[in-house]
Amino acid sequence: MGLWGQMEAVGYSLCRIWLLFLLFCLGQGRQMAPPGFVESSCRSRIFWMKLNKLLLQGKFFQLEINDPYAGPLLLDEKLASRCGYVLSEDAWGNPVFRASALGCHVTNEADELFSLTVNIKVSSFSSMRAAVTYTYPMYCSYSSWASREIVCEENYMEVSVKTNVPAVSNDYTVAWMSALPETQNVAYQLWQLMFVSPSGRKRITVSDAAKLGYSFNNTLSRVYLRAPYHSNESDFSVVSGVNMNMVTSTSMYRQRWLLLLIDTTVSCPVDGISFTDTTLTWTVPSIIPTLVVQESTFLSKNILMGVDGRAVVNPEEKNYLLEHNKTHIEITIPIGAEGGKLKSSISGGVYGVVYSIDLFLEHTWTDADWQTTKYTVVKSITTPFMPQIPTVINNTLPEERLFNVAFGHFLPDVSLVAIAIGNVPFTLREAQHHGFKIYETPFSNGMKEFILEVSFDDLYVLKEYVNRNETKYTLLVNYTISVGPEMTLYYHSAEVECVVADIELPEAVGYCDEENLYLAIPLFGLHQYWNLYLGDKLLNRHVALLNGYLAATNSTHLILQIPLFAVGVIYEEVSFQKIKARFDVALRKVRTMETLQMFSVSCSFNSPAFIICHPDGTIMISAQMKTVPAIDMSKTKLRDSSCKPREYNEGHAFFKFHVTTCGTSVRFEGDHIIYENEISYEKETLPGQSIPTITRDPDYRLTVLCYYRAKETLVLGAFASDPSTSPPFGSGTMVPRPNIAVQRRIRQALNVVSRVSKDESFMEFYEPNMAILKRPAEPVFLEVELKDESPDIELYLENCWVTRSLDFNSTPRWNITVDGCEINGSEYVAEFYPVAVSPRVRHPSHFKRLAVRTLAHRLEQVYVHCLVAACSPTNTPPGSPCRGECSSSRERKAFPGHHSANLQGYVLAGPVWIVDPDLR
Ligand SMILES: *[C@@H]1O[C@H](CO)[C@@H](O)[C@H](O)[C@H]1NC(C)=O
Ligand SMILES: *[C@@H]1O[C@H](CO)[C@@H](O)[C@H](O)[C@H]1NC(C)=O
Ligand SMILES: *[C@@H]1O[C@H](CO)[C@@H](O)[C@H](O)[C@H]1NC(C)=O
Ligand SMILES: *[C@@H]1O[C@H](CO)[C@@H](O)[C@H](O)[C@H]1NC(C)=O
Ligand SMILES: *[C@@H]1O[C@H](CO)[C@@H](O)[C@H](O)[C@H]1NC(C)=O
Ligand SMILES: *[C@@H]1O[C@H](CO)[C@@H](O)[C@H](O)[C@H]1NC(C)=O
Ligand SMILES: *[C@@H]1O[C@H](CO)[C@@H](O)[C@H](O)[C@H]1NC(C)=O
Repeated sequence: MGLWGQMEAVGYSLCRIWLLFLLFCLGQGRQMAPPGFVESSCRSRIFWMKLNKLLLQGKFFQLEINDPYAGPLLLDEKLASRCGYVLSEDAWGNPVFRASALGCHVTNEADELFSLTVNIKVSSFSSMRAAVTYTYPMYCSYSSWASREIVCEENYMEVSVKTNVPAVSNDYTVAWMSALPETQNVAYQLWQLMFVSPSGRKRITVSDAAKLGYSFNNTLSRVYLRAPYHSNESDFSVVSGVNMNMVTSTSMYRQRWLLLLIDTTVSCPVDGISFTDTTLTWTVPSIIPTLVVQESTFLSKNILMGVDGRAVVNPEEKNYLLEHNKTHIEITIPIGAEGGKLKSSISGGVYGVVYSIDLFLEHTWTDADWQTTKYTVVKSITTPFMPQIPTVINNTLPEERLFNVAFGHFLPDVSLVAIAIGNVPFTLREAQHHGFKIYETPFSNGMKEFILEVSFDDLYVLKEYVNRNETKYTLLVNYTISVGPEMTLYYHSAEVECVVADIELPEAVGYCDEENLYLAIPLFGLHQYWNLYLGDKLLNRHVALLNGYLAATNSTHLILQIPLFAVGVIYEEVSFQKIKARFDVALRKVRTMETLQMFSVSCSFNSPAFIICHPDGTIMISAQMKTVPAIDMSKTKLRDSSCKPREYNEGHAFFKFHVTTCGTSVRFEGDHIIYENEISYEKETLPGQSIPTITRDPDYRLTVLCYYRAKETLVLGAFASDPSTSPPFGSGTMVPRPNIAVQRRIRQALNVVSRVSKDESFMEFYEPNMAILKRPAEPVFLEVELKDESPDIELYLENCWVTRSLDFNSTPRWNITVDGCEINGSEYVAEFYPVAVSPRVRHPSHFKRLAVRTLAHRLEQVYVHCLVAACSPTNTPPGSPCRGECSSSRERKAFPGHHSANLQGYVLAGPVWIVDPDLR
């Protein structure tokens, strides 16, 4: 076989290919509709066909009416109303085609079987290029014709009557006879129509009527007339409040001795729809006088309503209401009821819904003229746009610290697309990922809402501290929803807030040691919710430092150490060696500065020596006087010798006086007022004796000074008596008179004096005992002079240091020069200034000048101590350092008769007050 067999096989395949090609060519463009695309039925005597819009997405379609003889005709509006077709959409947007059984191109078999074929053409192009055509035949069987049937469709009115019914009644006779002259001219064996309208009568042939948009024909047993609405031959009337459009006509036919006159008058309602917020109502008159000539014989037989082309037998089951009385038939539909369709939409930027429903009404009646009339009205109703502002419902759960917000109610055609929380946009996926919970809750009525859950503690929730102990949580939300089939984006924003008492106000603990008061304040919320205030001044680290407070923190608390004599301490009770002191700090809200709490610590101290300058100008001094030999304290006094101590013992005296008494002097310095007095001791002398007596009493003088801020003491001496409005306590100091002081160390081996200059020119100096006030960083200009005649000798500042007290041995001690060199200390620094010859300076080598500055910015009272030495050019100890201050080639001057230690001298300068620079 081999080769032959193969060839046979090839030939066979070729044949098959040809056959397939033929089938393909025949089938091209004419196909069976895909399953689910077309749905059709026969509803009473109407062909009904629905196309599935889902299968038409992105496509274009056309309908053709397939005439069995003439072929396909494109369906357009004119053809539709003349031929009894309707092309519209149902409430869901699916294309719907309806055709009357009496429509053109319908194949009619004995007025019982009807068939109509439509071509559905579908293309991806609006030009209908490359369209696929589905040929779709439909069949209807209908035999229960009433004598007269009237259909009021969306685009046409149709009346059909049985021709074997005697059409002329007694009542009609006159009207008909009056029409007779016209009938004389009716063409033989030809139907003619006579229209009666306000503009008169018009008799035309059927073909002329077709040109005017009418359709007239007879079937085996019936004659029908179809008219468009609002034609020139039509007329309007109002029946039971409903506007009716009617065409009054008589159809005429002459055949030999017979003249057939048939009343083909038709009348249809054109309105009758009304809406409330919740319902729509459709009203149709019960009796239409044009159609019922003998009203007395009228008898309503049946009223049937239908939705979407199907009769509804029990309207009440679906909450429809069908009511009728002698004049009206009314159908009331709740908006949103089953059978219709709610659709979301946006109109003018507003969210809302529209409701659509396709209704029909079939009214069957009898009367003497027509036996039975079946009157059918088909109506598609769409409500106007009904705005519905979406609501945001706050279901927040404060106990769970959770915002729960419902956003609704929406139809299923709304979906949540995105959300912004706290003005930060999130897609739904991002939102879920971040931890926002978003879900939909459906309702039994088909509506739904969107639930959003956000924790109070979420990053994007705004938090505000309000009232005393509450937080206001604010959720800003901006929803983006997609609305309706058009998927229009719509935004809705809302603000939900919740106030929760979830903040605990701090409690401070106060305690004291011998010299300080302490406040331990929880750190929580400090600077975030509240701040500490000293009076009306913010207490920050800087202010604490300036005021001499020590501020330390551990992990939970701020611990403030307030020295007994620091600024801000209130002295509640002051007596001999005893002070009751209090320190107050206010806890105030960060923004409003409203006082939430006062923290107070109050303690009693035993203090042997103090000076307290009360806000009201009273000065209280507990003076300690260590003299050798001891003096009789009862004999101490102020400048005014009548001012004696209130109390005393061996080493202490207690004075209390007002700044306006006891010889107190006053002066201004910078922005301070300084009150000065002096405690002195009267040496006992024997009165009347000319020879001075030798007494054992040492000379004793103690200068007392009180500094007040001038701005706070508005008028000199006018102190307020109300402590709450009075200026704060002044600061006081007591200075023993230099050279008379009691320091053990001071044996003036060298005659050296120290002065403090007012500036770097070293021309003007502070008087002894004059208060020296400096701001931090402002240098103190110190000059030390060796009172010596020999010009060769050079003064040498061996060691200088700063202390807080005038005691030589006191600590802390900050070195500023060591072995004649300035050193860079951490707290104080010194810098030598050159000395030139001047009227005051004969021998510059006898002088040394130092500028001393604090780096610490602490407010305090300080003294500068210097141990000095004198050098002669020939006698400088080996190894003595320092850049020209005292060169190694020189030697210290030997002072005959002195122990080597006595070659030194000692000077003390001060006190210098380093004061608050903040002159606010
Ligand atoms: C009337 O009906 C007949 C039969 O269906 C048809 O042949 C004729 O064309 C129709 N006439 C008009 C004017 O439509
Ligand atoms: C019939 O019902 C309509 C509408 O409800 C009403 O306006 C009318 O007065 C009623 N007519 C009679 C006769 O009851
Ligand atoms: C909500 O978001 C939209 C889109 O980003 C914006 O146009 C609108 O202004 C926002 N609304 C509010 C109140 O922020
Ligand atoms: C939301 O609900 C919470 C809890 O009931 C309530 O405390 C809060 O005041 C409400 N907020 C608003 C803005 O209605
Ligand atoms: C908040 O303060 C109110 C009174 O101001 C008080 O009654 C309440 O107990 C406080 N709540 C908390 C949690 O501290
Ligand atoms: C911090 O100091 C305060 C006050 O002295 C004390 O009560 C607290 O226990 C301390 N906290 C820690 C963690 O040490
Ligand atoms: C200050 O100088 C003295 C004398 O030179 C020395 O004994 C002391 O240790 C120094 N103190 C400091 C803190 O440097």
